Amino acid sequence: MSALSATWIPLAYLVASACFILGMKRLSSPKTAPSGNMLAAVGMFIAIVATLLDQEIVRFEGIVAGAVVGAVIGGITAYRVQMTAMPQMVAAFNGFGGGASALVAGAELIRLDLAGTPPDLVVSIPIVLGTVIGAVTLTGSGIAFAKLQELMSGAPTVYPGQQIVNGLLSLGLIALAVTLVLAPEDLRLFWGLLALAGLLGILLVIPIGGADMPVVISLLNSYSGLAACATGFVINNQGLVICGSLVGASGIILTQIMCRAMNRSLANVLFGAFGAAPTAGVSTSATGTVKAGTPDDAAMILDAARSVIIVPGYGLAVAQAQHAVRELGTLLLERGINVRYAIHPVAGRMPGHMNVLLAEADVPYELLVEMEEINSSFPRTDVALVIGANDVTNPDARDNPSSPIYGMPILEVDRATTVMVCKRSMNTGFAGVDNPLYTLPQTMMLFGDAKDTAEKVLRSAKDL
Ligand code: TAP
Repeated sequence: MSALSATWIPLAYLVASACFILGMKRLSSPKTAPSGNMLAAVGMFIAIVATLLDQEIVRFEGIVAGAVVGAVIGGITAYRVQMTAMPQMVAAFNGFGGGASALVAGAELIRLDLAGTPPDLVVSIPIVLGTVIGAVTLTGSGIAFAKLQELMSGAPTVYPGQQIVNGLLSLGLIALAVTLVLAPEDLRLFWGLLALAGLLGILLVIPIGGADMPVVISLLNSYSGLAACATGFVINNQGLVICGSLVGASGIILTQIMCRAMNRSLANVLFGAFGAAPTAGVSTSATGTVKAGTPDDAAMILDAARSVIIVPGYGLAVAQAQHAVRELGTLLLERGINVRYAIHPVAGRMPGHMNVLLAEADVPYELLVEMEEINSSFPRTDVALVIGANDVTNPDARDNPSSPIYGMPILEVDRATTVMVCKRSMNTGFAGVDNPLYTLPQTMMLFGDAKDTAEKVLRSAKDL
């Protein structure tokens, strides 16, 4: 490396890392998120240019061709992907990131071995870590993708002795990893390690149920960062080390936030096989009858209200009802009604799912209120309009210790004067448990697709 490179390349990585950190900070608010994204992208551009200038690249043709093909595939996919398919898109990104780290770590090992200079401990340890974590991330994310894309059943796949099998395989993997660190010249160990890590990635993710997948994806995201960080040490690239650490740390923090919002431990998500057996009807405090209303009834009740809290959930995303709901909200606001949107941290199927949907429909940010803040308002609210949300409004999670979701914080919609729930049937949500909210005396069900129903209510409300 020339003296100039020795100074400028690390400086470029430092600037890129500063862009990543400041970009991430800006992602914490919807208002600053777009510029944060842009800043992080600029940082990545700087890091890529620095890497291209840093290494002794013999030919650029392959790199340019790869960049063009990757940019075209990435651009088209990002443009076409549905919001509801975002989790599997992220899973694919994580998987490719982990796979790339494993490939780079492995390529460096093979290069050093072929040159007759097997790596010392300082390099062989990160090679092994990058390979193991990268391969687990690749295959684990592949399974997560297949489950969410419905290429395979989204339900947990469980069999007797599963934890023992996984435990034994993990021990075998650790033993093989230590052997490779000590004898990096034996490439057979490397191929064995790669295969075993790939197998473990599959086996660790198959017992996890479809809607726990966002937590797993976030965890795999963290793994992909750790794999990149390890590979950064292998090829002595400070940019990769810093960037990988940021991804690793933020992924694990997000994983924790999600687990806390569901009041479940990470171990329970990973090993609990939640949803393996149907729990519907097993443990509910539901009594009483279900009252169904029409969109005209709903429009009249909303028109007479002074305060309305709209509670969106997964069904809103499935139905793509956000625009119709925003129009309804705007109409009520124009009539002097106090309208707000309540956001549960795990409503939907990915972090920030509801925020993104409502932002897409141009709902003003200031009308979005987080769970902790809005819960005290429900007792003073005339109408809680629940649209496609189920588990996040289930009073059993608060009141019924025998419920499987007992302890999960909820949006306390049952404390509003009137509750209107829009969903297609009496079916359960992700947790597979009945919801006693639907049989409360103050609850009126609006059966139907969320978008269709919201449009009908809007039309009726306009006619009033
Ligand atoms: P869910 O409890 O899954 O309920 C969604 C409801 O939407 C269903 O009961 C369904 O009832 C209804 N629905 C589906 N399609 C619809 C449509 N086209 N029109 C109207 N309604 C429709 O959703 P939630 O309340 O948002 O809770 C999220 C769940 O996911 C929680 O259990 C949470 O723990 C879990 N989870 C979330 C995350 C993140 S990060 N968000 C991560 C892990 C787990 P019908 O079939 O009767 O219509």
